[in-house]
Amino acid sequence: MTSTPELPLRKEFLLPINGEVGANRLWNESDKPCTYLCGNSLGLMSKRSKELVEEEMSVWATRGVIGHFDHPQKRGWVGLADHARSYLAEIVGANENEVACMGTLTANLHLMMDSFYKPTSERYKILCEAKAFPSDQYAFTSQAQAHGLDPAEAVLELHPRPGEFCLREEDILQVIEQEGPSIAVVIFSGVQYYTGQWFPMHSITQKAEEQGCICGWDLAHAVGNVPLSLHEWHVDFAVWCTYKYLNSGPGGIAGLYVHEKWNDSLKPKYAGWWGHDPSTRFAMPPKFSPIEGAGGFQQSNPSILAIASLLGSLETFKRAGMMAPLRKRSIVLTNFLEKLLFQSKHFVSLKDISTNYQEGQGKPGFTIITPHDSKDRGAQLSLLFLPLGTGVMQKIFESLQSHGVVADERQPDVIRLAPVHLYNNEADCETAAKFLDIAFDKFAVSI
Ligand SMILES: Cc1ncc(COP(=O)(O)O)c(C=O)c1O
Repeated sequence: MTSTPELPLRKEFLLPINGEVGANRLWNESDKPCTYLCGNSLGLMSKRSKELVEEEMSVWATRGVIGHFDHPQKRGWVGLADHARSYLAEIVGANENEVACMGTLTANLHLMMDSFYKPTSERYKILCEAKAFPSDQYAFTSQAQAHGLDPAEAVLELHPRPGEFCLREEDILQVIEQEGPSIAVVIFSGVQYYTGQWFPMHSITQKAEEQGCICGWDLAHAVGNVPLSLHEWHVDFAVWCTYKYLNSGPGGIAGLYVHEKWNDSLKPKYAGWWGHDPSTRFAMPPKFSPIEGAGGFQQSNPSILAIASLLGSLETFKRAGMMAPLRKRSIVLTNFLEKLLFQSKHFVSLKDISTNYQEGQGKPGFTIITPHDSKDRGAQLSLLFLPLGTGVMQKIFESLQSHGVVADERQPDVIRLAPVHLYNNEADCETAAKFLDIAFDKFAVSI
């Protein structure tokens, strides 16, 4: 077993216990930590997050409104979003004035699309991956409709080649080159939520720029997972949530990035007081004077409890040395999990699917649809259960859960497993692989 670089941060997180996550087959280990491989959906709570939220609750209880400016820990609420922003800027590879800690992912996506998607009769298409996360699909469709366009024509979805699950870089670049003059915005997810593919963000952004298209990214599954250099890559805009790899808690506050090359020409269309120059914000002048850069897009005063929760995790990232060492550890962990899965007698290689699994035939098994090369993926591996559409996935998922393996199901046939750099370890990978085999063995007996 290759050991992962030393990052003893697991103890800084609160790990759910078997007895609370449906592990009914582990009744004698019900108070032991479960095998949590679902940080791609909802990251775990850091102890520091809990501490910070409790501190803010206490400041609220003891000081009330005074906490905005006079805070016992010098974390006055008026400036707390900016505090989080500096960590976020480091994580996404941007300057601080290019980032805002605000809102929610889909709302931020609409704000950015409204600012950057300016269709003309020649250049009106939105290029994205097929089967983008549904909220993104709805956003793109409704953005096209808001401009009086037919989404069937305006939203150009890229499909993988027949028999493949991921998009090839050369195919994406070729479409941008061919369709460039008609594309207004190229927008992909950094890491695809279903397949776990990490798109070649730099080359897509470069190609889009060459063709005069705006390039934006949904970083929901990329932020805190893979290293990013948004500024250097010349990305125009990006949005993300923080409740996955950034561990801010369910529905946590989100993030937004706008490249500073836009500072002079792009001003926030929908102004709010939190986007106003902080030096005069509380003088309440009648005229909006936006903060330069991403900060100007803020509208409301943000939820302090949500930021406190995020900050706790970001401080833990900082203690870990941020993305470089974390990515190193992530690669080792995911490669290790993949190696264990390859060794399973139920593993089927992708090339054998078409011959062995025609029309619901073939014995129960699984393959991995996430790219094999770590440069093309983050932490997540997406397992596709076979034969397709026969309910194998559901049975395996239930069995995993009954053994305390918390994974993420995507109907009809996929389970996603994500060993997270900060709190997962090799033992988690071994436990998941072991119970996956046990689930198949039980399943084989029951059919
Ligand atoms: C890729 C992607 N985009 C958008 C969303 C929607 O996020 P929200 O509900 O925070 O707007 C999600 C949620 O998981 C997601 O994974």
